[in-house]
Amino acid sequence: MIVDSILRRLFAGRSDPFDFRPFRQDEIPTRVPSATGLYIHVPFCRQICPFCPYNKRVYNSAMATACVERMKKEIGMWASRLETSFKPTSLYIGGGTPATVLPQLGEIVASCQDKFGRIDTIAMELHPLDVTPEAVKRITDAGVNQVSVGIQSFHDHLLKRLGRAYDGKRALEAIRILKDASFDALDADIMFAIQGETMEELVEDISRVIEAEVTQLSVYPLVLYSFTPMSQVIQNQGLRRASLLTELRMLLRIYDLTDRAGYSRSALGSFTKPKTPRYTSVTREFYLGLGPGAASYTGSAWFVNTFSIPEYLKYIDEGRFPVALGTQLTEKIRKRGGPSGGSTTGRSLWNGTVNCSSLTSIGISGC
Ligand SMILES: C[S@@+](CC[C@H](N)C(=O)[O-])C[C@H]1O[C@@H](n2cnc3c(N)ncnc32)[C@H](O)[C@@H]1O
Ligand code: SF4
Repeated sequence: MIVDSILRRLFAGRSDPFDFRPFRQDEIPTRVPSATGLYIHVPFCRQICPFCPYNKRVYNSAMATACVERMKKEIGMWASRLETSFKPTSLYIGGGTPATVLPQLGEIVASCQDKFGRIDTIAMELHPLDVTPEAVKRITDAGVNQVSVGIQSFHDHLLKRLGRAYDGKRALEAIRILKDASFDALDADIMFAIQGETMEELVEDISRVIEAEVTQLSVYPLVLYSFTPMSQVIQNQGLRRASLLTELRMLLRIYDLTDRAGYSRSALGSFTKPKTPRYTSVTREFYLGLGPGAASYTGSAWFVNTFSIPEYLKYIDEGRFPVALGTQLTEKIRKRGGPSGGSTTGRSLWNGTVNCSSLTSIGISGC
């Protein structure tokens, strides 16, 4: 199968036996390493961005409520499954747009703490349009102490090109509101190498984030995943994405700006203020992923939940773990840090090579 060979080559090299396949219930681990974080994937967004590769649907209240109910059950299933008393190192709520389930956010966090004890680091992703003083109060009341907001740009024409339904003023306002709430970590995501973006525009975006005094800045070059509408539009119109050289020049400029502002590089595209915690979605060593499309890595196994919401609900209602696909890992791959190098989001599958149709071919539907 295409996806199997791509994944095998990416993670294990040509010659290693590496077998992504439907994962049996009796293969679900009963133990996890002590340094394991929890990841909960909320697969809903108010509006779908044309560039986005993640597992998400347009928000639907009935479906979201049904999904949250099953997530709470899934939390309970893991608590019963694990033999040793498991204390997660952190809880990360990502998506999609987790604030779509804001009314139930407190219940999700409480379910985790009820089953696994107090969790000190609780992080959450936000869309700028989620951020109001009232929403932030609910978020802090739920116990979330680290947030990341997907700003992308402050330039209205670039936001429009990305299909984002806010302007630069609203993006800045979101950061201001979050700053007032004094989270332990406040990360802002900026995208670069957007079609037609100039170096001057990028410098302005980075400078504005720095001036807003976020504790961390994360930058992502716009990746055109073959199955996304943006990639298809660009292909149909014969447009070209920014060259790798442009991307590299932009990244070097970002390094220079953040360095001068006293931020230290904490990952390839993340820059953190000294004496502030590093906000991270993708570098926990081990993780258990809950919710549709979330992946888990326990050192000895890597597996991913079904991407389909109806299938997810059905699995949980039948008292089964909603795992669609996985693999047991060889010692060699374990030494390399697992198939994703430590992703907690399950997004490592979406690296631009593995596309929706190849996933469907191995039984992951609804991606
Ligand atoms: C789940 S989103 C963040 C939260 C929220 N859903 C939002 O969009 O604001 C995670 C981040 O991934 C980045 N991202 C998503 N699709 C991307 C793509 N095709 N190329 C590069 N970065 C991307 C964006 O910077 C985005 O803020
Ligand atoms: S970028 Fe964020 S808001 Fe846009 S579709 Fe993806 S997860 Fe949803």
